[in-house]
Amino acid sequence: MTRPVKIAPSILAADFARLGEEVKAVDKAGADYIHLDIMDGHFVPNISFGPSVIKSLRPWTDKVFDVHLMIAPVDTYIEAFAEAGADIITFHPEAGPHAHRTVQAIKANGCKAGLSLNPGTPAEAVDPLLQDLDLILVMTVNPGFGGQRFIESQLAKISVLRERIDSMGKEIDLEVDGGINFETASLAIAAGADVLVAGTATFDGGPEHYSGNIARMRGQTAG
Ligand code: DX5
Ligand code: ZN
Repeated sequence: MTRPVKIAPSILAADFARLGEEVKAVDKAGADYIHLDIMDGHFVPNISFGPSVIKSLRPWTDKVFDVHLMIAPVDTYIEAFAEAGADIITFHPEAGPHAHRTVQAIKANGCKAGLSLNPGTPAEAVDPLLQDLDLILVMTVNPGFGGQRFIESQLAKISVLRERIDSMGKEIDLEVDGGINFETASLAIAAGADVLVAGTATFDGGPEHYSGNIARMRGQTAG
């Protein structure tokens, strides 16, 4: 069975001076989700943007806003991201002591909940929360920056999680984030991923290349 593959462009690699147009352009180019990387300069060594930017982008597309929180603490900010227009809110278990409470808070705010695993975090970290999750995000770089190299050792974790999800029979997105390009996209898909986050590879070459870049990562066109 071939699983449909969703592409989630990370706007971290977009032109920040024209973010609305960039989001609209990747929407038209076939993006499934818009991946929004939130970095606080504390949980990760970089600062990106916050809920007010997401709120400003919300009118530019109807696509799913896939918000990846690389912040600590998380719970204090869930309501603000939900009100700004997040559809999925994903967090890292290392960000706080009460991961299950965070999942409950995300759902209470009307969003889907995702858990993100750093390269050093084992697949088993999802087990106690699996039935409450809508998405599992496997980091294939250490979080904090776009444009890093794909860590191939994480493919085994993707395969393990694919088996866990299939044996549950529940709809859970298995998303991969970091260093995705045309080559690593096919490795991640073969390992069982069904959502690919791609910043650098989506925005490479400017707007006239977005739809070709997205189609090629999805495996729709020959290289
Ligand atoms: C890294 C972020 C990623 C990043 C991906 O901390 O979570 O979403 O923007 O960028 P590329 O696709 O350039 O590796
Ligand atoms: Zn991300």
